Amino acid sequence: MKKVIDFIDVQKSFNKKIVLSIPQLQIYQQQAVGIIGKNGSGKSTLLKIASGLLYPNQGSVRILGNSSQHKRVKEKVRFVLESGQGYYDYLTARENMDYFLAINGFSFQKLKTEAKRLGDYLDFSQHMDKKVSALSQGNRQKMSLIIALLQRAPILALDEPTNGLDIPTKQKLVRVLQQYIQENRAVVLLTSHDVEFLRQFTTRILLLKDGRVTFDDAPGILFRNQSLEKFEFQIHYQEYLEKSSLIANRKSIRVQQTEGGITTLICLNEEDKRFLLNHFDILNMSLAERTMEDIFSEVLTYG
Ligand SMILES: Nc1ncnc2c1ncn2[C@@H]1O[C@H](COP(=O)(O)OP(=O)(O)OP(=O)(O)O)[C@@H](O)[C@H]1O
Ligand SMILES: [Mg+2]
Repeated sequence: MKKVIDFIDVQKSFNKKIVLSIPQLQIYQQQAVGIIGKNGSGKSTLLKIASGLLYPNQGSVRILGNSSQHKRVKEKVRFVLESGQGYYDYLTARENMDYFLAINGFSFQKLKTEAKRLGDYLDFSQHMDKKVSALSQGNRQKMSLIIALLQRAPILALDEPTNGLDIPTKQKLVRVLQQYIQENRAVVLLTSHDVEFLRQFTTRILLLKDGRVTFDDAPGILFRNQSLEKFEFQIHYQEYLEKSSLIANRKSIRVQQTEGGITTLICLNEEDKRFLLNHFDILNMSLAERTMEDIFSEVLTYG
C-alpha cells in the first residue's frame, strides 16, 4: 500500500506550549482515518499539519513524497474547515462553487453534472442559488463538502464534517466518502465526535490525548474490550448530593440523569456495583445495554 502521509518526530507548539507530539505516523492510500479525542486534544491541529495547512515546529511531514511545505502539496490536498467556514457569505452557493473551483484550476461548467449528482444526493441542489449567509449550518457544510469532493484530490481532510448534518445525510456522506476513496484511491482524514458515523466510515482510528496518539487501530478494536452492559441504580437526588464525593473517584460510576427527585447512576464493574450497594440506599437496580455513546465517552475519558 502506498504511503501518502509520513510524520517523523513531529512537534507543534503554540505560545511555547506543545500541543502535538507525534514521533511516527504513516497514513496509506485508501485509508479512512478518524481522529478522535476530547476538546483541545489536538485533533484539528493534527489534521492541519497532515494537510500542509500548518507546519510543525520540529520534525518533518511528508505528503506524497514532498515536504508539506512544498508548493506541489497544495494541489494534492483539499481541506474542509469546521462548520463550512471560509466561503463568501454575500455570494450564492453556485457563485462560491464557481469561484473556488476556478481559483484551483477547475471549471464549474465541466463539473456541472457531477455537482448536480452530488447536490441531488445530498439534498442540496435546491439551495444552489441562495446566498451563503442564508444557508443553514448543515447546508453550508454540504456546500463546502461538495466543493471539496468535486476536485478529487488524493487527500481529503475534513474537520468535523458531520456537524450540523441530519442523520439521513450523515449516512449518505458515509457512502459518498467511501466511493470517493475507491474512485480516487484517496485518503480521507477527518475529525469527529460522532460515534455512529465513525463506526460506519473509518477503517482506522487515532485517539489523541493531550496531543499524543494513545490508540491507533481499527475502530472495532477500540470498542472490543468494553463491557456491553451497565448497571443502573436509582437513588434519591438528595442522597446523591450528600454523598457525591464518595463516588467522585470511582471510574466506572457516572450520573445518567436526575428526574423527579430521583438520580440514576450507571456503573460498569462489579467492584463499583458492590460499593454502591454498600454505601447507598438503592431504590431500584437493573441491568441495561450500554449505548455506543456510553462506550465512546468512556474511551475518550479513560482511553
Ligand atoms: N492558533 C492557535 N493559537 C494558539 N493555540 C492554539 C491554536 N490552535 C490551537 N491551539 C491550542 O492547541 C490545542 C489543540 O487545539 P485543537 O484545535 O487542535 O483541538 P481539537 O482537538 O481540535 O479540539 P475541538 O474538539 O474543540 O475542536 C488547544 O489547547 C488549543 O487551545
Ligand atoms: Mg477541532
